[in-house]
Formats: sequence, structure tokens, C-alpha cells
Amino acid sequence: MKTTKRRLLFLIAAICLGTSLGGCGQQDSGAAIIRIGHNQSTNHPTHIALTAFESFIEEKLGDKYNIEVFPSELLGSQNEMVQLTQTGAINFCVASNSLLETFSENYTLFNLPYLFDSSEAYHASMDDENITGPIFESTKTAGFEAVTWLDAGTRNFYTVSTPIESPADLKGLKIRVQQSPTNVQMMNLLGGSATPMGFGDVYTALQSKIIDGAENNEMALTDNGHGDVCKYYSYDMHQMIPDILIANCDFLDGLSEEERAIFEEGFQLVNQVQREEWVSAVEKAKERAQNEQGVQFLYPDIKPFQEACASMHEAMLEQYPDLVPIYEMIQMHNEEFSSGNS
Ligand code: GCU
Repeated sequence: MKTTKRRLLFLIAAICLGTSLGGCGQQDSGAAIIRIGHNQSTNHPTHIALTAFESFIEEKLGDKYNIEVFPSELLGSQNEMVQLTQTGAINFCVASNSLLETFSENYTLFNLPYLFDSSEAYHASMDDENITGPIFESTKTAGFEAVTWLDAGTRNFYTVSTPIESPADLKGLKIRVQQSPTNVQMMNLLGGSATPMGFGDVYTALQSKIIDGAENNEMALTDNGHGDVCKYYSYDMHQMIPDILIANCDFLDGLSEEERAIFEEGFQLVNQVQREEWVSAVEKAKERAQNEQGVQFLYPDIKPFQEACASMHEAMLEQYPDLVPIYEMIQMHNEEFSSGNS
């Protein structure tokens, strides 16, 4: 969707949704409308999981709450949806962890390149409340908090016409990154020219050659059509960045104890369904990209990529010493799964 059109929709959404009831519009039936926004298509594991949440909550509390899920940036870009959630104009949205570091420095941790040694260590860390707790709660003063995480796989580089075999191949290329200082810094250390922009603008930017490539999981090739333009996808495995389901704090605090328990169960369901769906969705995306879009998958030595941005770990820990104990807990999960590297 074109940026101006989206901005207009965002403005309309903000005006229509801005109620003083924590974003809960009241229906004739008396049920409050709960709005959840995300930026993926209706085929995506995230949408499927949120639909399961909708059915679950409405089955248990249908007389009180009517859940509405808005896919495909219908409520604005992720940045805009976070702001809507913050003010309570909507109740929930899914945001990439990348964006959240501008709301709380604690989120910087999960954006570090090569933080997790394997997907097992990544999943174990994200399931460890000692690790996620202090991070998920850290935006409460800003008006929102994280209620669960979603898998977004591994981020890798893909380009229109340059196979990326080593960091040297990124030199001189404009690569779209998410709007986060950590991602800009990573890209610059790897030698490419970081071009931050919202997810919804990437396809047009690739097509019109404003950028030479981007970085994301395999779903972006198929579900967002990036593989129609980019023919090389290179598994340098630079980040495993989770998506985060965030909620407006006033809305959560306004739930009764019993309702809150049901919502908590619903958040676990979102996590479970999304992760189950994710595994087959990525497999299918890879197959489709290869066979229907003609994307070539490359498997470079990841060491030179890792070495190029290794200094970011120490620099971040020096800048945010409170994150050191959490970083160390992640290292324990890395060690636990060191033989099962994936
Ligand atoms: C992934 C992720 C999204 C994010 C997007 C991006 O698709 O799941 O939450 O917005 O990457 O690169 O912006």
C-alpha cells in the first residue's frame, strides 16, 4: 500500500478509534470491541494465531468482548500501531522487537546480531520468564506492555541481483533495515548502506530500485512478494528477532481477575498456535520461492558476518549494564543447546 494512502487510513483510524474507553468501543449487544492490529497478510501464522485468540475469547467471554483483528497495516505501520496501543486507541498490536528499542532500551538486547547460537537457544530464552520478564514490563510507564512473543524466524539478506557470499559483497549496496538504531549500526558494520523504512514500503522500494536488497525471514519473499524482485537469498543468519504482542496497560488493568486469567490463557494460545504454524509456513515459503519465484538460496560461511559485528555485544553491555545478567542467562541457553546448532 502506498505510504500516503496508508497515512490517510492511519489518520482516519486514529480519529475513529480514539475513545476514552481504552479503545473499547461499545456495540449494541453491549460487548466491548477489542481491536488488534498487525502488519502481516491473512495467510500468515500471526493472523491465524490471532484468529484463534478471537475464537477463544469470544467463546469464553463473548457477551462482554468482541475481538476484531486488523491485518495488513490496515491500522497503520507498526510504528503507528504501537502509538495507537500506547494511547489506548486500540487494545493490542504486534510489533517487531526491533521497533520497541526506541520505547525501552531493554529491548535492544534481542536485536543484537548473533545473540542466539541456535533456534533452540532462541526459543528457550524467549520462553524463560527470567529473561523476558524485565524486558516485557519495561514499557509499562509508556502505557503498554508485552503479553507474549511470536516467532519470526531468522533474518537473512536478499538482493535483487548480487549474491551475498561474504560481507564484502554488501559494500555499496543499499539495504533496507527496520527502523532501529541497532539495525542501522549492524548494517553499517557489515559494510552495506543501511536504509531504514517501514515494512509496507519495502516492495515498492525494491521494485523501483531505491534499494538493492533487504533482510528478513523467508516469508517476506512469498507473502510480501519480495521474491518476485529479489533472486538471491543468503543464509548469513544475522538475527533472530521475535515479534511481540503488546497490550494497552489501562485495558489490561481494567479486566477483572477472572477475565484477566482467561486473557492470559488466550495469550499462551497465540504463542502456541503461531509457533506451530510457523514451522510449516517457512517450509512452504522456501519451496514456493525456489520453484515459483526462481529465488536461489545461498549458504555462506557465517563467521565473517559474525566477526564484523561482534563488537556490538560488548558495546551494548557497557552502555546498558542492567542487561548483563539477562545476557548471561541467554549465554546459558546457548551453551545448553551448543551441540544442537541449527
Ligand atoms: C518480519 C516481522 C515483522 C516486521 C518485518 C519487518 O516480517 O515478522 O514484524 O515488521 O519483519 O522487517 O519490518
